[in-house]
Amino acid sequence: MGVMYQQENGLFHLYNDNISYIMKILKNGHLGHLYFGKRLHLRDDYDYIIEEKWRSQTAYIENGNGEMISLAGMMQEFPVHGNTDFRQPAFAVRMENGSAITDAKFAGARIVDGKPELSGLPATYTEDPGEAQTLQIDLIDALTGLKVTLNYTVFEKYNAIARSVCLANEGKEALHITTAMSFSLDLPDSDYEWMQFSGAWARERYQYVRPLTPGIVSVGSRAGISSQEQNPFVILKRKDTNEEQGEAIGLSLIYSGNFLAQAEVDAQDVTRLMIGLHPDSFDWKLDCGETLQLPEAVAAYTKKGLNDLSSQYHHLYRQRLCRGPWRDKGRPILLNNWEATYFDITEEKLVKIASKAKECGVELFVLDDGWFGDRRDDHAGLGDWVPSPDVLPNGIGVLADKIHALGLMFGLWFEPEMVNADSDLFRAHPDWILQTPGREPSLGRHQLVLDFSRKEVVDCIYDMMAKVMEETKLDYIKWDMNRPLTEVYSAALPYDRQGEVFHRYVLGVYDLYDRLTKRFPDVLFESCASGGARFDAGLLYYAPQAWTSDDTDAMERLKIQYGTSYGYPVASMGAHVSAVPNHQLNRITSIDTRANVAMFGTFGYELDLNLLSDEEIERVKAQIEFMKANRELLQQGDFYRILSPFKGNETEWICVSADKKHAIAAWFRVLNVVNGPVKKIRFTGLDEDTLYTVSGIEGTFYGDELMEIGVPEIENMNAHGRINTCDYMSRLYEIHAVTM
Ligand code: GLA
Repeated sequence: MGVMYQQENGLFHLYNDNISYIMKILKNGHLGHLYFGKRLHLRDDYDYIIEEKWRSQTAYIENGNGEMISLAGMMQEFPVHGNTDFRQPAFAVRMENGSAITDAKFAGARIVDGKPELSGLPATYTEDPGEAQTLQIDLIDALTGLKVTLNYTVFEKYNAIARSVCLANEGKEALHITTAMSFSLDLPDSDYEWMQFSGAWARERYQYVRPLTPGIVSVGSRAGISSQEQNPFVILKRKDTNEEQGEAIGLSLIYSGNFLAQAEVDAQDVTRLMIGLHPDSFDWKLDCGETLQLPEAVAAYTKKGLNDLSSQYHHLYRQRLCRGPWRDKGRPILLNNWEATYFDITEEKLVKIASKAKECGVELFVLDDGWFGDRRDDHAGLGDWVPSPDVLPNGIGVLADKIHALGLMFGLWFEPEMVNADSDLFRAHPDWILQTPGREPSLGRHQLVLDFSRKEVVDCIYDMMAKVMEETKLDYIKWDMNRPLTEVYSAALPYDRQGEVFHRYVLGVYDLYDRLTKRFPDVLFESCASGGARFDAGLLYYAPQAWTSDDTDAMERLKIQYGTSYGYPVASMGAHVSAVPNHQLNRITSIDTRANVAMFGTFGYELDLNLLSDEEIERVKAQIEFMKANRELLQQGDFYRILSPFKGNETEWICVSADKKHAIAAWFRVLNVVNGPVKKIRFTGLDEDTLYTVSGIEGTFYGDELMEIGVPEIENMNAHGRINTCDYMSRLYEIHAVTM
């Protein structure tokens, strides 16, 4: 692993055992992109890759040596705006005179071991400088004095390149940055399919695929959050790439606000893939001497199919994006009271629910919305993070003590970024919300958004939260965020900095997370935004798990968790067993099927266990015991998708231990099939030459048999001709290597 920099011919080659990323300073001084893909030999010269064709209807610029050059057909690293390249640029800058033409020529480069931190922003990191190398390349626009530093990190263990951009105004006038993409990757052809993960509330991150054609395909968010409609993670794959084989490139943004991800195919079939802050409503004034660090993006590459691509993100994000003591630990099995009680809570009721949970083996009790201020329903109280004497007359400290005395950890719900008009905080500071002068602020779930671009607002929320965390000796926080940003304008910023508010808001959120996680390093944070409206790599840096969706129906969760698994690890997906009929769909599924889905996540319950039958309670106890015995494998093993819920009636996935000696697979079928074929359940990720046993199936099988042939699916008639299958069936298979 390393970075090769050949100063004499301006060549950069970042490589590890599996990937190469090659760049070259072009003859006009711009930074050209040559290659991203499978590892190549290290050579001095790849100039044959650079295409320089004369074409009509193209503009050329003199490069200073009498040579003419056009950027239109060139693959570039940080494409400029407004001269000979007419594709989407990586950055756009407005000068005081109104000019928006940009330029960026090579000015210097250095290599550092490890990976420097990004100040104020989440990012991947190294624990030892030997794990990665970072190449920093400076480009400069001589006219404006804007210095662009591109930071590229190549990791030893992950087939991914992390890139971020830092802009510094070294010129003599203020500049307005109106576009600044974190990653821009030009690819030599367009023979790709574009995969995106889109949805809505309660059906987040469904997978969509379409071929690239000339023009632009893009997804993005302008809601101030990464959103449930789109996700800041996309894949380009070859048409014949599937889960098991084939080439694919992923691009993921470590950011939680407005974003744009797009692929543009030009007339010569060159594809420009990029991701970064959404240029709409972004206008950052960079005064002389100021710098702006932009979010990091991670591009991963595989030739071994989509499971392998996902596994690069799973490992990198789980091991070197998530932080804190919970990073490597099995996540506590929790019970959350939300769907059990909604706002109807008393100390007695909560302790009763928690006691039953403890009896079943649960480890963490989470008190959701409604414990503070005047929050008796969702019209009031947000912003007043003071325990309510109406709900908890003995105080929250007493409740926390009782929960702790049961031997459970205690967690609380907060929605720190929000305020209700009916709250003491809003009455005291009506100007602390995002609102545009002269316009009525929109409401979302009856609430307004606090202006987190202002430090005094973040300070105030921090103080309130820290006090409750101290008093309750809190072990866990569910940090919710239940509405998009509207009328975005900050009373604290001048007119020419209003285009900064969206990004400054996200920086404020990160600042609060940073302060709280530093002061309370042992607290486990779970992010949430009406379910999965802010499920992104940015928040994983602070909160290693996220509530995947408000939809707790087991069948719906198959799609949601399957889609989420493309870019995010199993250990990041909050997944609970809830009551039936399900509260989102009225569907009735068995307690086992609900648990079999939730076990491929952080696992917990969101119902009152006191209301279950004795038989169900026995199942719950067995599920918890199973989860405790296997959570290391389920949350830290290698996850492979096998059968897609987007393609048919059946879903299957598997978690395999690193040594391939132990695996747990899950098979699900939505609707029952009468007199169907006896199909085989095949597995993935095992060792071909190892002999295994499979729970519920007699005999032993080599890994190759299990992966190529499989074991018989459940038949729907038993030996006596009775139907023994039903809708919403599931089955877990425990696979163990036979020890000789
Ligand atoms: C959001 C969350 C839910 C729950 C409620 C509480 O909808 O996604 O899980 O916490 O808020 O109001």
